[in-house]
Amino acid sequence: MIFRQLFDSVSSTYSYLLASRPGGEALIIDPVLEKVERYLQLIRELNLKLVKAVDTHLHADHITGLGALRDKTHCVTVMGEQTKADVVSMRLSDGEKLMIEGLTLDAVYTPGHTDDSYSFIMPDRVFTGDTLLIRGTGRTDFQNGDPRQEYESIFGRLLKLPDSTLVFPAHDYKGDTVSTIGEEKAFNPRLQVKSADEFIVLMNNLKLPNPKMMDVAVPANIHVGLHQEEIARRGWSLTAMEAICALGRPDIALIDLREQQERERHGTIPGSLHAPYTALLENLSEGGILSALAKSTSKQLLFYCAFGERSAMAVQAAQDSGIFSARHIEGGIDAWKKASGPLAH
Ligand SMILES: [Fe+2]
Repeated sequence: MIFRQLFDSVSSTYSYLLASRPGGEALIIDPVLEKVERYLQLIRELNLKLVKAVDTHLHADHITGLGALRDKTHCVTVMGEQTKADVVSMRLSDGEKLMIEGLTLDAVYTPGHTDDSYSFIMPDRVFTGDTLLIRGTGRTDFQNGDPRQEYESIFGRLLKLPDSTLVFPAHDYKGDTVSTIGEEKAFNPRLQVKSADEFIVLMNNLKLPNPKMMDVAVPANIHVGLHQEEIARRGWSLTAMEAICALGRPDIALIDLREQQERERHGTIPGSLHAPYTALLENLSEGGILSALAKSTSKQLLFYCAFGERSAMAVQAAQDSGIFSARHIEGGIDAWKKASGPLAH
């Protein structure tokens, strides 16, 4: 496995780049906007293909690199389903998998620091975001933080992992880089409590100043979404309502770009074909299934995904490869559901 811990000294943030092999797919956890060029350079040097950029939660102390990485690499942006960030391409819920080629991380909902905090577990390590820090815990006094939830996330979920599990947090302010679950159980001063109530009293009396960047970072991180308006302005979008009216037309091929677990959870549009976003360029290239479908049958490709972000990027890619009739459903399956479009399960 390729594993890199990257540091932003301004916000003391750790970001993590993971891949199963040189030349393979990569994902990055908690990227920082100012460091995006550095990540891209490293990704090039290691000959990796960035396919997913993930935030463990809505950060208050730095601006996320998700949007910039998406714009530069067309990667899928990922957060938990509870997030208030306007559009991320993919939302995970508790128990779902975060997957790239050769690597699977379990997404675990660990609220408390914020109400959208997730941890990501691998067999030997856990990425804890700001839920569990090295000899500390994430503050719970803003962004719908809740010390009781944090207690349950830490004691009920994270500390149940084997003692040898490596702990990689989203921040460290003292220069520590890694710990273990066993070490934190024994030496983390915030965890030496006898009850949830004792933890709550401790957390409610920290009296911390707000992060310097908070007034800038939170609003910026809420609006990380791709501007689907530009795609609409070019006439490449159908609203969910227009797509519902077009359902069943023989000259339209509906293409579902989502992953299998998203299809199972949210349902699919009846009659649609599955062509995952990660294989898009291959499918659109000469001889690929989407290219063949568009060119040999002259069907119009109508892409959709969860929120319209992957499908907007797909329309652009299709146009770039000469498939000018390609369109997408603005707002994705989310908008489709709200417009009462039919779903198959
Ligand atoms: Fe945080």
